[in-house]
Amino acid sequence: MKTASVINSDNISGLVQRTLNHVDVRLTDHGKRVAYLAGRMLEADGSFSVKEKQDICLLALLHDIGAYKTEEINEMTRFESRDIWEHSIFGYLFLYHLSPLKDWAQTILFHHVSASTLDGVDERIAMASQIINLADRVDIFWLNYPVQSALDKYLSQKRDDRFRGSVVDLFYKALEKYPVMEEWKDAQAFQKVVQHMDLTVEQCEAYLNMLIFAIDFRSRHTVTHTITTTSIATSLARFMQMTDKQIHDIHYGALLHDLGKIGIPVEILEFPGKLSPQAMKIMRTHVDITEEILGGTIDPVITNIALRHHEKLDGSGYPKGLCGDAITLEEQVVGVSDIVSALLGTRSYKEAYSKEKTLSILREQAGNGKISPELVGVLEKHFDEILSELNVKCAPILETYYGLTAEYDRLLEKYHNQKTFMPA
Ligand SMILES: [Fe+2]
Ligand SMILES: [Fe+2]
Ligand SMILES: [Fe+2]
Repeated sequence: MKTASVINSDNISGLVQRTLNHVDVRLTDHGKRVAYLAGRMLEADGSFSVKEKQDICLLALLHDIGAYKTEEINEMTRFESRDIWEHSIFGYLFLYHLSPLKDWAQTILFHHVSASTLDGVDERIAMASQIINLADRVDIFWLNYPVQSALDKYLSQKRDDRFRGSVVDLFYKALEKYPVMEEWKDAQAFQKVVQHMDLTVEQCEAYLNMLIFAIDFRSRHTVTHTITTTSIATSLARFMQMTDKQIHDIHYGALLHDLGKIGIPVEILEFPGKLSPQAMKIMRTHVDITEEILGGTIDPVITNIALRHHEKLDGSGYPKGLCGDAITLEEQVVGVSDIVSALLGTRSYKEAYSKEKTLSILREQAGNGKISPELVGVLEKHFDEILSELNVKCAPILETYYGLTAEYDRLLEKYHNQKTFMPA
């Protein structure tokens, strides 16, 4: 069994960055630049520990993770946003329930509000929130209007209103100490503030899971899709008596297989019917997007498992149209499990299928030479066991999803009408 961890301190921040870059082209690299600006402010301050700095830079990188809906991204990228609660609340709930940054989650809830709203909030959180708030506005300001005197004017207007005076001072301290305006736009500048991520394997895996849930939670039909595919694939591999190494690779390949869905518009993911040829073409790009997100940083065997889940034995699959033996058994296991997961789940265009209907579709595909009859046979034989293992794994995720949705509605109701963050 391979001991080196697939997801580690060296590749996790790249995976996070590249995934977020696909939320929307208008947000490309925004998180990274905000993290850079926040990092420089924290360095100028000097009172935050290395661990705190790392956490806050990761928060800054993730601060817009709640921004799924295109309309809302429109709002955010306008220089002054109007209604910012939806993505702030969703991002907060996400970090609270699904990331190793639980203790810091409130920072994201308040990343657009004026300083006075933070009365009574824990001081470290209030400070981090204000730093991200200011870094976020500076980034948008410079993108639109890179003139220092204009920014000076803006910040002096917002001082002691939207931003604490001390945070504005911190920004100027950073400007004095580092060539911030020259470095800010450089895609690599982020590395300067977080030279080395010091994360445990468990934390790295927790970040990966967070990304996966961020993607699957976009549509209520896909909430448990990745976990379902992964569970079916590893159970199937076990019943196939595959080696520990193969099961390990299948586990990670399945976890990573649909990361690229982050780049597919929700309207297509949720489309209630057969997709048009153009929409299908877009849907299929999720595999290329996954490849781009993995960025050559993941073991090649696992990368191929993730990227080949839509290939078919008869060459009718995509993206490469590979045939027969060119698709390894591990790759086939994940491909078949992906189909099973889709058949068993509801989709915007269909109800959940019964065991009988699922198996009959699989048999038909095997009969047509698209998938392995051997795999379908093993699935059929152990179907109930595979399904009960699956249900155990999905239950807590569904619970989190419904809890999170309920909390979202409650918080939106609570904050929506507060206009304290509104620019004067
Ligand atoms: Fe935001
Ligand atoms: Fe897929
Ligand atoms: Fe999938």
